[in-house]
Amino acid sequence: MATATQLRESPAQGGEYRFPLGFQRNLIWFAWRRFRPANPILLFQHLAEKYGDIAHYKIGWNHIVFLNHPDYIREVLVVQNDNFVKERTVRRSKMLLGEGMITSEGANHRAQRQVAQPAFHRQRIPEYAGTMVREAGRTRNAWRDGETRDISVEMMHLTLNIVAETLFGTDLREEVNELADAINRIMGLYNFLVMLPAAEWLVHARPPGLAAFVRARQRIDAVVYRMIEAHRREKSHHGTLLDLMLAASPDRTAASEKSLRDQVITIFLAGYETVANALAWTWYLLSENPECERKFHEEIDRELSGIPPRYDDLPRLRYVEMVFAESMRLYPPAWAMGRYAQHDFRLGEFFLPAKTTILTSQFVLHRDPRFFPDPLRFDPERFTPEAKSRRMKFTYFPFGAGARQCIGESFAWMEGVLLLATLGQKWKLKLVPGHPVEPQPLITLRPKHGMKMVVQARRPPQNFPPA
Ligand code: HEM
Repeated sequence: MATATQLRESPAQGGEYRFPLGFQRNLIWFAWRRFRPANPILLFQHLAEKYGDIAHYKIGWNHIVFLNHPDYIREVLVVQNDNFVKERTVRRSKMLLGEGMITSEGANHRAQRQVAQPAFHRQRIPEYAGTMVREAGRTRNAWRDGETRDISVEMMHLTLNIVAETLFGTDLREEVNELADAINRIMGLYNFLVMLPAAEWLVHARPPGLAAFVRARQRIDAVVYRMIEAHRREKSHHGTLLDLMLAASPDRTAASEKSLRDQVITIFLAGYETVANALAWTWYLLSENPECERKFHEEIDRELSGIPPRYDDLPRLRYVEMVFAESMRLYPPAWAMGRYAQHDFRLGEFFLPAKTTILTSQFVLHRDPRFFPDPLRFDPERFTPEAKSRRMKFTYFPFGAGARQCIGESFAWMEGVLLLATLGQKWKLKLVPGHPVEPQPLITLRPKHGMKMVVQARRPPQNFPPA
């Protein structure tokens, strides 16, 4: 790990804190205007370039430490995990998600994770494959040769339907536009919310801007509550995630209804936004790298012979999986993560105070040439089993790590590969010439201007049964 000289401060009880190098002046006065919260990735990249593996700065009274080395990341997410909570780093996300699995802590988090776990069990995951391929088949059949589509929107609608069907046993096709629009609206306001002091309190007063947020949240809530009610009426017991959640909250007090809503909306958002963005970036990268695209189609044709993919085909769709992995290296949907220290702690040679915020960025570490030579090159071969086994652990962590690692990881890998294979059997997607492509770090890493692509039928046309 890099060494750094220290800033010193007197801790409350003896000893001396040792801080890594970093901005000497308070970020509020110094760099805030230069980097603007609108693009925190620029700030993180600057910290990594200038200070290496670990950097320190302050915003107001708050100490912030940015980590850019796998050893430090492992230390915080796994080894000393008990000392770190997400509290504060997810404060703004709570305005939408409430106290769902992503934002909750302690006993509440453990209980929610336990309730949801069976729906993500290895034995359950294969059951979802059929729905994924069927939904992808619908999208595939709706496209026409030569037309231009915003692939970002297409992937959002597709993955939203899949989460609704697989995990909530609900057909949301009628409502998908309304739900996606409302979530888009909130995402559009996200940077404004992040910058606004005390937004979570101001929201009750509804100043302009926040009123739009409240309206969008009400629309989302209406869809979620309708879905919960319909499920209760039908008394469905198919063992979906929603059934598990309903069984775990039998009373209908306002608090437990609100908790149910938070849990549902969390899985919705976590389960569709991330995968949809990963897929939009993947189609873009394939379009820009024709040789990889050729191998991708070749594998799909060879392994599937024109038949829609099934769960059992997954082990043979190795290159498709490598493409998806490499895409999440360059454009990780979860582009940064935060933790908040409850007690003083040591990190390598540094001794840091309680209440320090720890930040780390998948986007920055995944592009570090020490771990990924020639990092900007799209190269799925980085994810052969041999290449993976040579790489240090925690250099690639699109799904996080430790106790809070993504519960939907297996679901997401399967969905990504099946959707790419189903759509790739019939279509090639080409970026519209001149369409601007720029990552926008909101809750997830979205293409800022969408992803306008031309849908091209592959020649010779495949002759396969409808998925
Ligand atoms: C490409 C797709 C996905 C990516 C990149 C991704 C990424 C992540 C990351 C990095 C975390 C950890 C955040 C942290 O520790 O601060 C996380 C947590 C979580 N993810 Fe995912 N995720 C994906 C797909 C999914 C899917 C499909 C679902 C559900 C259907 C899901 C549900 C969750 C939940 C509930 C958590 C919170 C887990 C906990 O705190 O115990 N994710 N995800």
